Amino acid sequence: MPHESSVPGSCYFYYPRLVCVVGVRDEAKHTTNFTPVAWTTPLSSDPPLFGICLSPSTYSHQLVLKTGEFTVNFLSHEHAALAEALGKLSGRDTDKVRALKLELEPGQTLSTPSLAVAYACAECVLLERHHVGDQTLLVGEVQRIHTSPGTFDADGVLRLEQLNPLLYLGSNRYATTDAASLHRPGSGAKPR
Ligand SMILES: Cc1cc2nc3c(=O)[nH]c(=O)nc-3n(C[C@H](O)[C@H](O)[C@H](O)COP(=O)(O)O)c2cc1C
Repeated sequence: MPHESSVPGSCYFYYPRLVCVVGVRDEAKHTTNFTPVAWTTPLSSDPPLFGICLSPSTYSHQLVLKTGEFTVNFLSHEHAALAEALGKLSGRDTDKVRALKLELEPGQTLSTPSLAVAYACAECVLLERHHVGDQTLLVGEVQRIHTSPGTFDADGVLRLEQLNPLLYLGSNRYATTDAASLHRPGSGAKPR
């Protein structure tokens, strides 16, 4: 089938992606700011590095550079409305924790808490930052991870029959996975 050709920006070819909610302390306001970020990526296993791309226009960007730490929080599909609400508000003028009545879990290695509703969270210390076009890639070293009991199997793989992860499609559209689609080829070298 012939492809249709178009200019960059005309379609979200890089979605779907997991929605990751970044938490960062706002000491001046005695709260924590939570913001959905879809442009994230694991970067290294050893040391364990995780990257988030934030626009310098976000309040979270300013806060991460100030505190040098953040949490990343992953939600199930039932929390799509929460992700949408967090993305519409800015911590610059709204305390999202108070406005959305968010329940928090204190950090174990950081002073930044995680979202209690998340099925998986990681505590990260800011290691590096890189300007990438109109974004900043903030590289965090993962200190500790927290997962809801029963959501990952013995191989550490998300159990799709237990949990529907929240995916973003772009343009305010969300989706999830279908457990029946799981493809598990024969054993071989340990993949990523
Ligand atoms: C699902 C979703 C994904 C988003 N992904 C990103 C992203 O990768 N990088 C970014 O800078 N903003 C992203 N945004 C936009 C920010 O979440 C939004 O600008 C937010 O209001 C910033 O809040 P803050 O000013 O409190 O940091 C996303 C929004 C949504 C709803």
